[in-house]
Amino acid sequence: MPETGFYDVVASRRTVRDFLPDPVPPEVLDRCLDAARLAPSSSNLQPWEFVVIRDPAVRRAANAICLDQLPAKTAPLLLALVTRRDTWRRNRDEILRVFESRGPLRKRQEAYYRKIIPAIYTAGPFGLLGPLKRAFSRAVSLVRPTPNFMSRADVRVMAHKSAALAAATFMLALRAEGYDSCPMEGFDPWRAAKLLALPRGAEVAMFLAVGKRSDKGVWWDRILMPREWTVREL
Ligand SMILES: Cc1cc2nc3c(=O)[nH]c(=O)nc-3n(C[C@H](O)[C@H](O)[C@H](O)COP(=O)(O)O)c2cc1C
Repeated sequence: MPETGFYDVVASRRTVRDFLPDPVPPEVLDRCLDAARLAPSSSNLQPWEFVVIRDPAVRRAANAICLDQLPAKTAPLLLALVTRRDTWRRNRDEILRVFESRGPLRKRQEAYYRKIIPAIYTAGPFGLLGPLKRAFSRAVSLVRPTPNFMSRADVRVMAHKSAALAAATFMLALRAEGYDSCPMEGFDPWRAAKLLALPRGAEVAMFLAVGKRSDKGVWWDRILMPREWTVREL
C-alpha cells in the first residue's frame, strides 16, 4: 500500500539494498521523474539529467561501475543522476524565452540572467578566471556582503546541491508510490562518465537503484545523530 501522508513517506523511506525482481511500471517511474523535475535548483537552471539505464549491456557495465554493490545487482531498475553545469547557457536562454513569452522582460530578470549568470558560470581558459573571481569576491566580502562569483569547483558544488535535491524529491516520490531506492556514490566516476558518454562539465552525482524492497532490503534500524548535533539556534 503506497504511503501517502508526507511525514509517513519521509519516515518510511529507507536505503534499500536488496530488491524484489518486480519491475517498476513506466507510469510510476514517469510520475516520480516528473516530481523530481519540480525540485528547486540554483537560479532555476535545473542542472541535472536522469539517465534511465535500459540496455542490458549498459546495465551490466553500470553494475560493475557501481562496484557490484548489492542494490545495483538486485534492483530491477538503475538510473544515473548526472549534474549538467555545461547546460547553463541553453537553460538560461529557455528561462528568458519563457519569461518573454509571458510579457515584457523585467530589467532585473534580464540583468540577472544576461550578466550575473554568465559571470558566475564562465571560468575562462583552463578555469583560470575562477580563482580570480573567487578572490575578488572574498576581498569585497571584507568590506560589504557580496555573492561568491565562483570558481569552477564552486560551480560544481552548486550543481551537485541542486541535483541532490532532485534526487531527494525522486526518492520520496518513489516512496509515495510504494517503491524504494538506494542512492549510490560508491562508483567509479571516470568509467561512469565514459559509459554514459558524458560531455565535458557533466558528472554522475549518484546512481539510483530502484524497485520494491525485499524482506532483507533494510539492513538496520535507523541511526540518527542527536538532534542538538544537527539543529542549532542562534
Ligand atoms: C549521496 C549519498 C550516497 C550514498 N552512497 C551509498 C552507496 O554507495 N552505497 C550504499 O549502500 N548506500 C549509499 N548511501 C546510503 C546511505 O548509507 C544511507 O542514506 C544512510 O546510511 C542512512 O540510511 P537511510 O537512507 O536508510 O535513512 C548513500 C547516500 C547518499 C545520500
